[in-house]
Amino acid sequence: MSDEVLLVDNVPIVGASPDGAMISVWTLNRPEKLNALNADSHTALKQACSDAEANDDVRVIVIRGASPPPAVEGKRQKPAAFAAGADISEFAGKNSDDVRSFFENNAWEKVWNLSKPTIAMVDGFALGGGTELALSCDIRIASTRAKFGTPEINLGLIPGGGGTQRLTNILGYGKAMEMVMTGDMMGADEALRLGLVNEVCEPEELEGCVMKMAENIARKSPYTIKVAKRAVRAALDLPMSEGILAERSEFVALFDTADKEIGVQAFLERKDADWVGN
Ligand code: COA
Repeated sequence: MSDEVLLVDNVPIVGASPDGAMISVWTLNRPEKLNALNADSHTALKQACSDAEANDDVRVIVIRGASPPPAVEGKRQKPAAFAAGADISEFAGKNSDDVRSFFENNAWEKVWNLSKPTIAMVDGFALGGGTELALSCDIRIASTRAKFGTPEINLGLIPGGGGTQRLTNILGYGKAMEMVMTGDMMGADEALRLGLVNEVCEPEELEGCVMKMAENIARKSPYTIKVAKRAVRAALDLPMSEGILAERSEFVALFDTADKEIGVQAFLERKDADWVGN
């Protein structure tokens, strides 16, 4: 087993345009600790964000957890996990001065601020910082055995990776309060019903579901996809009247791109668009 806390695998998408398109699959790799996010995980995630941002071939990012290791004799099998939170062992004995700069420069925000689309592939536990990492992604696809939750309250803490804000945004005030104040877990069915996840699949089908969605997005114009992400994101940050103006400005500007003309002509000529990415 690799001792790297994050494995990055760039999967080529055959026939996508412009040439060289890849889906970058990031695997949190501390399965013996249920992929809990330690300081090294944050450093590796932030580096992966910088690398993905700098690489035009990376069209979509998928974040997942490593599968549980084989059971050790005499011990029970560890459960599947996306990430069971921040690594709690790193919290012991620390005061606010010890943790402030780390939390001011965390990976959840770096993932959230990626200009490219992100999909969280959640199999098993996504707790605390794990739920927050999934929330930092644009889309969440979960297995039937996924469990979400913000149990920080049981540690005398609250979510610190954007969870209170992003949960409220997706679930609404009351349900976010319930999650944050009880620390109780939420199963995949409820997460789907409440819009916390986009889709739920059987565990053995999860990777296929995620890669299908990722490939679908990776086949669009990478330029237009970034504009689409910016425009939808504006709905979170701006009052509606300003968001409408932001959308209109992005829409009109797209009429100066090559990919708008390529897309429109491809439709009219009933052929596939051969995007150039600008
Ligand atoms: N930080 C550090 N280690 C963690 C961890 C975390 N957030 N979550 C799990 N682990 C470790 C456990 O210490 C254990 O390590 P060990 O085998 O070396 O003793 C291993 O991962 C397996 O976890 P375990 O608790 O034995 O599995 P379980 O099936 O009994 O329970 C959970 C699974 C997810 C319910 C339980 O691990 C848990 O509650 N984790 C903490 C969740 C949390 O509070 N997250 C928010 C952090 S801010």
